[in-house]
Amino acid sequence: MANTYDLLIRNGKLATAEGTRDADLAVRDGRIAAIAPGLCGARREIDATGKLVVPGGIDSHTHIEQVSAFGIMCADDFHSATVSAAHGGTTTTISFAAQHRDMLIPEVLADYHRRAAEKAVIDYAFHLIVANPTGDTLDEDLPRAIAHGLRSFKLYMTYERLRLSDEQILDVLSVARAHGALTMVHAENHGMIGWLAGKMAGAGNVLPRYHAICHTRGAEAEAINRIIALAELVDAPVLVVHVSTVEGIDTIRKARARGLKVFGETCPQYLFLTAKDLDRGGLDGAMFCCSPPPRDEAAQQACWAGISDGTLEMYSSDHAPYRFDASGKLPKGEKTTFKDVANGVPGLELRLPLLFSEGVATGRISLEEFVKLSSTNHARTYGLYPRKGELAVGSDADIAIWDPAVKRTATASMLHDAVGYTPYEGRSISGWPVTVISRGDVIVHEGELHAERGRGRYLAREAADSARPAGLHVPEVSQLDAWDTPLSR
Ligand code: URP
Ligand code: ZN
Ligand code: ZN
Repeated sequence: MANTYDLLIRNGKLATAEGTRDADLAVRDGRIAAIAPGLCGARREIDATGKLVVPGGIDSHTHIEQVSAFGIMCADDFHSATVSAAHGGTTTTISFAAQHRDMLIPEVLADYHRRAAEKAVIDYAFHLIVANPTGDTLDEDLPRAIAHGLRSFKLYMTYERLRLSDEQILDVLSVARAHGALTMVHAENHGMIGWLAGKMAGAGNVLPRYHAICHTRGAEAEAINRIIALAELVDAPVLVVHVSTVEGIDTIRKARARGLKVFGETCPQYLFLTAKDLDRGGLDGAMFCCSPPPRDEAAQQACWAGISDGTLEMYSSDHAPYRFDASGKLPKGEKTTFKDVANGVPGLELRLPLLFSEGVATGRISLEEFVKLSSTNHARTYGLYPRKGELAVGSDADIAIWDPAVKRTATASMLHDAVGYTPYEGRSISGWPVTVISRGDVIVHEGELHAERGRGRYLAREAADSARPAGLHVPEVSQLDAWDTPLSR
């Protein structure tokens, strides 16, 4: 019989955001060519009996080969990060092309494109961090980036080197609205955190646990309220990244109930860690320092509830990889205070195994919800759907085959990133992606990598529904009458 297909996955249970079914899945020329029972005629077959066949994961919040707000280079480059992602069932990353204040955006973009093209083993896209929205940036650089398929920006309300004023945020939101881009926001009140940190450090309280104490729930809640108010003023969609608090989730929920286009993201560190993890002996707590910090059990429950009711549609790693030494987490060695610790935790490889184990295997979320959170919601929100995030004829054959029966214990040594530690050391994990396929190529099979450096492709993105304004009445600024606008009442 002629080989009609390049690859056939037989006897698996296929799961998408819509439901599950028992079927075979065939691949030709990197795309899904057929889904039906009883397919045959392929050059290679994989027997998926007893396994789950799902869309490859999309991790839409990753820091790769990026210099941080503290001026520290990440431990992972585009090779180690994407290899690590692939081993954890992720077939697309969206990472940041980061402008710092003295950098020109066209040069930033060219630099990230060059480095990723040389090294990535899975497909990738970028969000642009905008740290200096000058007139030229607003008039030319951002519209040009959007026209070339870079359809999301990240703005910071904190971090001295990156934060924007409310006026600057309004400027960027207005450009994003006009040109169909989505704005992601790191929402924490800079003044509240900095003031408290100064007081703590002044009193000699410098251990990592003071990081969590200074990044208060109120600092996140205030900034989320403010970014929603700013977005409402210009009717621009916003996505609040790494949401960690009961209050923040509630604020997003209420804004959505009012019809605003406000999206929310949470991350493994807010579901699986707490502030107690920062309170380990000596500087060990620095391994868990990220912003916002992990909170308490009530906040964890609120994150699960936000996931369940759709307030938090996005579940990303916020992989911010720093080694636990002077090159990363501890820039001043033993003298590092909580104010110096490089912010961020690794999570690219364990993001999905943790969610599968703690979500699907425990019955807390359904398989359909797992697929949405791991892949489909990211594709829809960031303009990659249906090319990515779907098992359908014509979609890229980006697929993860999960064995729900596999049991593993998370350790740093089994991971493929360049970090050297994991915040999830010792956790028992049920379920693992045993085969991972990117555009029809089997890139991970039974723990082995089969992917050449640089095989990953850049993904120019389409305008997504998420980037369309809600359609609120926003008067022209020149016509504003303080006593006669819907927003002033
Ligand atoms: O602590 C974190 N999240 N570090 C990474 C940078 C960021 O704010 O996303
Ligand atoms: Zn952030
Ligand atoms: Zn981040």
